[in-house]
Amino acid sequence: MNEAPIGMFDSGIGGLTVMKAVMRRLPNESICYFGDNARGPYGPRDIKEIRRFALEIAAFLENLGVKLIVIACNSATSAGLLEVQRSCGVPVLGVVEPGARGAVQATHNRRIGVIGTVATIHSRAYLKAIHALDAGAKVHSRACPSLVGFVERGEVEGPRIEEEVSLYLSPLGKREVDTLVLGCTHYPLITEVIGKVAGEDVSLISSDWEVAREVEENLVRRGYLRDSTRPPSYRFMCSGDIGQAIALGRMFLGPEVEKVEKVELIEGWTRS
Ligand code: DGL
Repeated sequence: MNEAPIGMFDSGIGGLTVMKAVMRRLPNESICYFGDNARGPYGPRDIKEIRRFALEIAAFLENLGVKLIVIACNSATSAGLLEVQRSCGVPVLGVVEPGARGAVQATHNRRIGVIGTVATIHSRAYLKAIHALDAGAKVHSRACPSLVGFVERGEVEGPRIEEEVSLYLSPLGKREVDTLVLGCTHYPLITEVIGKVAGEDVSLISSDWEVAREVEENLVRRGYLRDSTRPPSYRFMCSGDIGQAIALGRMFLGPEVEKVEKVELIEGWTRS
């Protein structure tokens, strides 16, 4: 039994898709969420820089007393999961391995498509994670740099985003993938568009649900589930524009995003 909250972070609001899935699966758990919206998006940034951000934020969350950290961002997971795990005194989960596992378990023809940010796709993290589970699977990856911007602007449907998704997915269609990993935590917000373009024969693997399952397994096995009759608490923090964080947070997570605290980021460290 452990009453401490779970810590989660992303470059912005994308990780709220993971938080939502964890809240549904584990409604009794308290969560501290940090969105690095002053420095996001991470996708176009250098891997070493993203790794440094991830290390800073994880240290900040650990300092708040969280019992487990979820890197709710594929770019940050790809850039620095191992380094964050080495540097933290609490367990740290990323979003790549759960998504890879879901895809390997779902595919029939062992042809898996992966879409994500430039940082995630260039890191080859999904390729490695999928091949660690099925060395014979064919993996076809595609960076989709503009999609995070559509989501952050709240443009999650309509002809413009459909056209953009069609351009990105057309090479994957030619490779006959039957399973597509949504390798960015922003993409669950545009699952409908992606599903419409990919077609009903393609299974979409969204890491949010896979990660929620992984979080539950970790807490259960470690005996870390919260066991209180008091309702859980949700704390939201960001590094940049609070108004934007509240508006997008409400839109994508719900009314739970009542208040967002601004955290001042200091070089090499963070403090609230
Ligand atoms: N949500 C982040 C991810 O899963 C990406 C957004 C960004 O580029 O910062 O990769």
